[in-house]
Order: sequence, then structure tokens, then C-alpha cells
Amino acid sequence: MDPETTLEAARERIGACEDTAALKGLEREYVGKQGVVATLLAEIPKLATGERKAHGQKANALKQSILEAIAARQIEFDISKLDAARRADDFDATLPPPLAQRGSLHPITQVTRELEDLFVSMGYEVLDGPEVELDHYNFEALNITKDHPARDSQDTFYCDDVGRLVLRTHTSPVQVRAMEKREPPFRVIAPGRVFRQETTDASHDHTFYQMEGLVVGKDISVAHLIGAMKTLLRGIFGRDLDVRLRPGHFPFVEPGFELDARCPFCEGGCSVCKRTTWIELLPCGLIHPNVLSAGGIDPEVWSGFAFGLGLSRLVMLRHEIDDVRHLLDGDVRFLEQF
Ligand code: PHE
Repeated sequence: MDPETTLEAARERIGACEDTAALKGLEREYVGKQGVVATLLAEIPKLATGERKAHGQKANALKQSILEAIAARQIEFDISKLDAARRADDFDATLPPPLAQRGSLHPITQVTRELEDLFVSMGYEVLDGPEVELDHYNFEALNITKDHPARDSQDTFYCDDVGRLVLRTHTSPVQVRAMEKREPPFRVIAPGRVFRQETTDASHDHTFYQMEGLVVGKDISVAHLIGAMKTLLRGIFGRDLDVRLRPGHFPFVEPGFELDARCPFCEGGCSVCKRTTWIELLPCGLIHPNVLSAGGIDPEVWSGFAFGLGLSRLVMLRHEIDDVRHLLDGDVRFLEQF
């Protein structure tokens, strides 16, 4: 058998093939286990020593050429199949491709970014603070003494055996960190994640989000605080809402308040405001002199206000979410709705 004439014949037959199945048959016939090339290779031991090498090389070159011819013919098949599909009546080259599923921002991230924009437009700086916090910043510097109930291990996740490191229970430690690094006057907000060791239910989770606000300046009063909170409400709900202050107790503010806003969802009482027409919005107050001192600021010269907005609660209000735990359990069916 002469490899050259074999190749020619093979090429002719490959060119005459009409489908992939026929091509496969030829492939078996020529380069299969018992095919033409295998037979050529099997002849080698019978040849004179001097001819063996050349014969082997020819057989292998034949195999290579046949395989290439088969692959080229297959490509011709593929192309004509595509052409046929394009010519078919139902082929529409202008149809948009299937849409990739798009992700979206978590509702907490959305509200955080909106409020950051709002406060930045009012001259506030956005700060970050550590989630694993020193007891000093989380409690001590905030005028929360060793025997204060907020330190109860019921509420605080401790990160070591000596009580020096905690998961921050609120964003207020950023107040003191901000004071240490800045010269008054200044305004900052600090959104972030906080942790409490609590039994979870529809309105409590062990992990949630707050946004701290802090303003330090000369002669800052409750009037400034109320003004800032009304602007905040306008930013959140898109219109002016009446507010009222009730006394609230937090060791790091004096006086301390709970700020309520007129329920933005009803006129005469609804399930959100529990028929009271007021919703509890945020705790706030004037910064306690001890806290200013702990942050290296002279309380005789400077004063300020602070507030702690519950971002998780705000998102729940905004989207009428009935269980905080939805916010963090990562269920796509929940997240897809935003
Ligand atoms: N840090 C307080 C809390 O989480 C809230 C607060 C912030 C109160 C600022 C007053 C001023 O409970």
C-alpha cells in the first residue's frame, strides 16, 4: 500500500461525505485500531532495518493528514448548518440575547448611601469604626460605668476572657474616636454594623445597623439638634414631619431624648404607629461633658449633640418588612424584591 495514493483516495472520499456520521465511519476505517494506518504500522517489523524508519514516518504523516482533512470537512458541515438556521424563517438576528440576572444593592446599603449623600451635602464627614471594639470606647469613654446594666453579658459579646475587647454594641464608640482625631468644630456620621447578645425575634436580631451622628461646635443647643433631625426626616420621607422629644436616658448624653416623628404613613393612626400617630425614630441628646473630656475636647469651650439612627428599623419602616431577620438571612427571594 502506498501512503501517497492512499491519502489521495482518502481525501476524495472525505470530500464526498455528506454528514458527520459518514465522516466518523471514514475516520474509523483509516485511523481506527484496525484501520489502514494501523495496518501500515503493523508491517514495520517485516521490513528491512534500513526502511523501517521512513515507513513509520510516512504512516504517521498519513494519519495526521487524514485527521486534518476530516476536521476541515466537519467545519464545512458546521458552517452550512448555521447558514441553514440563518435562512430559516424563525431566525431573527435582531432578537436581544437572554438577559443576565442583575444583582442589586441590599436595602440597608441603599438607605446608608442615601443618608451619606444627604449628610455629606450638609457638611458632615462619613466615618468608619472597628466592629471589634475596645471596652474603653464602647463603654468607658461613653460614661458607661462598670456597673451599668448595658454592660451586662446578656447584651454584650465579649471577644476575650479579660473583658477588654467586645463586639461593639452601638456605633457610639466612633464618637470618641472622632473627637480624639479632630479639632472642633466638626460634624460626622458613622454608619455601621453593631451586635448584641439577644434572643432573636421579629424585631430583634443579634446583628443590626445603626448610624451615629455627632456635631461638636460652640454653643450647640437642643434647637440645633431638632433642626438637624427635621432635615434628616425630610431626607428620609421626602416631606416635613412634626417631631416631639421625650426624655430618654443614655449615660453619654445630657439631656437625653427619644425623638418621635409624626407617622408618615397615616393621618389618624395605623398599624405602623400602633394607632398613636407617632413613630419612635431615634435616641439623641447633647453630648455629656465627660464624653467630650474623654475625647480630648474641653467641655467648658465646646458642646455638641449626638444621635443614633437605627438603620435596620428605618429600612423595615420604609419597605414594610415585618421581621428584621429577613435583612440578614440572605434569602434571594427576599433580596430580589429590592
Ligand atoms: N448608642 C445608643 C444605642 O445604641 C443610641 C444613642 C446614640 C443615644 C446617640 C443617644 C445618642 O442605644
